[in-house]
Formats: sequence, C-alpha cells, structure tokens
Amino acid sequence: MNRNDAPKTPATFHVKSFGCQMNVYDGERMAEMLGTQGMTVAADGSEADLVILNTCHIREKAVDKVYSDIGRLTREDGTRPMIAVAGCVAQAEGSEIQRRARSVDIVVGPQAYHRLPDLIDKAGRGEDAVDTDMPLASKFGALPARTKQARPTAFLTIMEGCDKFCTYCVVPYTRGAEISRSWSAIIDEAKALVDGGVREITLLGQNVNAWTGEDDKGRKQGMDGLARELARIPDLKRIRYTTSHPNDMSEGLIAAHGDEPKLMPFLHLPVQSGNNRILKAMNRSHSAESYLRIIERVREMRPDIALSGDFIVGFPGETDAEFEDTLKIVEQARYAQCYSFKYSPRPGTPAADMDHQIPAAVMDDRLARLQALINRHQVEFNSATVGRTTDILLERKGRYPGQLIGKSPWLQSVVVTAPELSIGDMVEVDIISAGPNSLAGEISRRKAA
Ligand code: 5AD
Ligand code: SF4
Repeated sequence: MNRNDAPKTPATFHVKSFGCQMNVYDGERMAEMLGTQGMTVAADGSEADLVILNTCHIREKAVDKVYSDIGRLTREDGTRPMIAVAGCVAQAEGSEIQRRARSVDIVVGPQAYHRLPDLIDKAGRGEDAVDTDMPLASKFGALPARTKQARPTAFLTIMEGCDKFCTYCVVPYTRGAEISRSWSAIIDEAKALVDGGVREITLLGQNVNAWTGEDDKGRKQGMDGLARELARIPDLKRIRYTTSHPNDMSEGLIAAHGDEPKLMPFLHLPVQSGNNRILKAMNRSHSAESYLRIIERVREMRPDIALSGDFIVGFPGETDAEFEDTLKIVEQARYAQCYSFKYSPRPGTPAADMDHQIPAAVMDDRLARLQALINRHQVEFNSATVGRTTDILLERKGRYPGQLIGKSPWLQSVVVTAPELSIGDMVEVDIISAGPNSLAGEISRRKAA
C-alpha cells in the first residue's frame, strides 16, 4: 500500500458525517477530542491534512457514497490527506475497505474512535491502523469532557446499539448490543453542555427509550426519570429524544409528555409498515393496532404532539394490498413528518436472503405514493400551526440580513426577521404563514432569558 503521499503528522482535520444523528454526535466528539490533541479544524475541508469519513451502512446507497467520496479526496496535484473511515461501514467491512480503496489509512469502528489519536500515529508510521473492537469499557469514559459549544442545541448519546434485530437492519451488527450510559455520566455531560451555552438537548440512541439505569440513590430509572432529572437543570430549556421503539414506550414516558413542560411535544416513533404480516416478517414484535394504541395514549397526554415515523416500502414479499395497509396507517396516525425508504438488502441480515425481493420499479411507485401522502399531511400539520403563538429557540442565521431561524416545539423551522436578537435566544412568536418545510413568524415579545 502506498501511503507515502499522505501527511504523516496531520495538523488540521475535517470530519464528514453521514447518516443518523448518532453519527453527527460521534463526529462532534471526534472533533473535540482531536482539538484537545492540538489539531485544528481545516478552514477549507479540501485542504485538511486528515479527513475522517464518518460513515453509514444502513442502505446500499449510503455505502456506495463512501467509496465515491474516498476517490474524490485525491487532489488534482496528486496529493491527498490522511484518510480515516469511521462509523458503521468501518465496523461492517473492516480492513476490506483498504482492499477496495487503497488510499484509506485508518479504519475505526463506532465503538473505538476514542483511540483515533493512537491510530493516527500508527498510520503516520505506515503501520496497520484498523480498530473495529467493541470494547466492554465505554469509549465515553476515554473522551475529553464537553466544553463551549458553537450552537444552542446539542445531541447527547445516552445509549448505543440495538437488541431488536429487525430482519432488514444492520444496526445490531454494526453498533452492537444495547448498552446504556450511566445516569451520572449523562447528567454530567448535559451540565457541561449547558455550561457551554446549550439550551436544548436531544437524547440519542438507536432505541433511546430502552435506556435503563440507576439514579444516584440506587433506584432503577427509565428514560422518563432521566428526562425529568435533566429538566431540573435550570438553563436547559428543552429536551428531545430520538429514536424510539414502540415496545419501549413506557407508561412513565407517555405520562412525562403530559406533565414535564421541558419535554418537547415531538415523538419520532417508527412503525415501518402498516401490515401485520410484514411487521411479523420484519420481526418488529408489535402490530399496526398496538402501535396505533400507543400513539392514542400519547395524544391523550399531549394532544398537540407532533408525530414522526419511518417507513420501508418493498420489503421482500410485500404485496400491493399489504402496501395499501401502510397508506392506511399513515392516514390513521397523521404524521407531522416522516422518513420513508425503499427496502435495501443488507448483507448478513435475514431479509436479504428472503424470497420475492420486490422489483425496483414497484418500489419506486410505492415510495412516490407514500411520499405524496406524507407530504400532504406535513403541509396540513404546518398550516394548522398558523395563528398560534409559540416559543422558538433561535439556532442559526437565515438567508437574508436580520433573519434568524429557530425551531418550534414541534420541530418545525420558523423564520423570523429580528436583527436585535441573537442565536441562542428563546422568543415568543406568532406563526403567520406556513410552507411545506418551514414557517414564518413574527416576534410577539422578547422572553426574559
Ligand atoms: N432498507 C431500507 N430502509 C432501512 N432502514 C433500516 N434498514 C433499512 C433497509 N435495509 C430504515 C428504517 C429505520 C431507518 C433508520 O432506516 O426505516 O427506521
Ligand atoms: Fe434497526 Fe430495528 Fe434496531 Fe431500529 S429497532 S436499529 S430498525 S434493528
């Protein structure tokens, strides 16, 4: 392998994260760790000495993208950065990546990235730098504490992995078994984020609501208890969590939506299909009816909750009639927004070997019909917020001078013109108009900080 053309002791780096929010979080932790090692973020990503591709393995397209990105990293003059492949492709493919893409210097799995500094040294010496271990001791303990944050919102991974083994999904193989971080580690990280300027925290996990642990008095707690404890941090204004599994939607968590004001009225609760035979073949261990009952109970507690979901069309063997059941459950559940995907066979998963894989043209047609319905509901949901007065947390600048963009409690982007305000402010706005992807608001009054 010719590694001589890459920098041996990188001083600048660029992290590019693909896929889910857990990868975004991991990317931020990697960047903070390299920062404490004295490395700096490259002003221009294409000039970085080290590029970390933090990859996603969930669908085939995501994997293909990694390899085309690696190819593009070699510059016109023939030089290239040191290249690290991190994330779930690294975990799934290991050193195979270096056979397919010889310019890759480092391969590091999602449970091993705390060892990046060591791997960078090894790669600099031209040594083998592949680490896809899933050590029992958590990487989190080895990472530096959180410091000042650039944004008022932050992700916080509270658990990793998945024990559910849905038959289409690679996550249980790439992220490993469900492991909850400790109560105190999470509270400490949340406090550090808030001290660093964060006002909204999104708790993350592949099955975030499966989190369990003991509080500081040794009492068993679930994610609802954890959220309630986090709500006691005075300067933390908002708490969100994602992604949830229907089977882990406890009564306590449903109740918290009714009486914990800092818990935002938004629930991402994937169902994947509306047909019970398909749900069984997917090993989802819930039915369409039991799913609908859960969201009914959540709505009893929090009538304005915005519901979000994930759907897969064209799972092996899915008939037209079975797909119609998916459209039916979308009608019944009334989502504020949804993600929908064509089934993508993943090597090593049971569904990849099932009979009756669905032709691409059929999947295209089903996806288009599903997305048209979802989009219609999204527009309806957004339109229904026009005329409401609500808090928004300003997160970033808009396109025009004086414009700022914040999020509503229901996770909609709201654009306001307010040159006197700053990112990080919470303001009360009147929603005056709605589009498919964002709302426009006018400041009602400045809220006391
Ligand atoms: N094909 C298509 N979509 C998938 N997802 C997970 N695995 C696959 C696959 N093999 C979708 C599910 C999941 C989301 C994160 O990605 O809808 O909830
Ligand atoms: Fe994948 Fe199912 Fe686990 Fe979600 S619950 S990460 S879809 S196996």
